Amino acid sequence: MSNPKVSVLLKSNWAESGLVLDVRRGLGSQPRTLPPKWLYDEAGSRLFDQITRLPEYYPTECERTILRDAAADIVAASRATTVVELGSGTSDKTRLLLDAFADAGRLERFVPVDVSEETLRQAADMLAARYPDTSVEAVVGDFTLHLGHLAGYARKLVAFLGGTIGNLYVEERGAFLGALADSMTEGDELLLGTDLVKDADRLISAYDDAQGVTEAFIKNSLRVLNRELDADFDPDAYSYVPFWDRHMQRMDLRLRAEMPQHVTLPGADLELDLASGEEIRVEISTKFTEERLRAELGAAGLEIARIWTDPTDSFAVTLARKVG
Ligand code: AVJ
Repeated sequence: MSNPKVSVLLKSNWAESGLVLDVRRGLGSQPRTLPPKWLYDEAGSRLFDQITRLPEYYPTECERTILRDAAADIVAASRATTVVELGSGTSDKTRLLLDAFADAGRLERFVPVDVSEETLRQAADMLAARYPDTSVEAVVGDFTLHLGHLAGYARKLVAFLGGTIGNLYVEERGAFLGALADSMTEGDELLLGTDLVKDADRLISAYDDAQGVTEAFIKNSLRVLNRELDADFDPDAYSYVPFWDRHMQRMDLRLRAEMPQHVTLPGADLELDLASGEEIRVEISTKFTEERLRAELGAAGLEIARIWTDPTDSFAVTLARKVG
């Protein structure tokens, strides 16, 4: 048996063409936005890794606690024999779940999906060695484009962890959950990690840490544009403005031009004039209530079977099942 197997669904020009389209659409219109997908180049991935270890940034540890404490419960509540993971990266926390599936003799197949081929290949090798009775079938793909590929897997649980769904706008979440549900048959499951609504103070400090790592992470977006599109942003000319938008129930992470800026982005055939005080929204991080989870999942035909939270009720992991 060839284990692991790796399928590459991403076209080689995925990043270039996607970035240009996103930049033209997002930076060229009002309010100016930049999709967070492009924050994760090598430097960005390293900064995010640092964020997950900051004392103020609670989500990673809270989700890990849930997966550690509830893994056996999750397996007992699930009917799946194939686990799919969207945005799998190194599948670090996911191993807690996979170990429990394997211990129960239920891990026939693991399908990690990620855009980073190198990270994915390394993770797939490691996982194939760790779970010798499991077929590891990695997919190099973009979970906003390639969900159709998952339709072929029966009795699956699709894990989407880390709270990444909160990066999507409400209409994008609807489209994503709809496409995901289309790739599922009745009884297939989603295991979804979401951060929860809480005190504004705690939220703000999680995204405005004392060491300035989050600021560096958000500002790195301008460096990505400078490198990939030959742009001439001056990152020092912008200040970091994170705030809690209580109506939309999301953190809104922006960069504000402190003086008028003229920016050229040759790679996107774009020129921008930013007024003094003008802002670019780089990332949103939506926080959920159980009610909202139920409504958004329900609209996609996914019914909540169970919700696990950590002891501080900061973060939730939800098991939902596709209904007929
Ligand atoms: C990886 C999307 C879950 O929204 O909390 C952390 C990204 N941005 N600090 C989040 C992030 C700034 C993170 N997610």
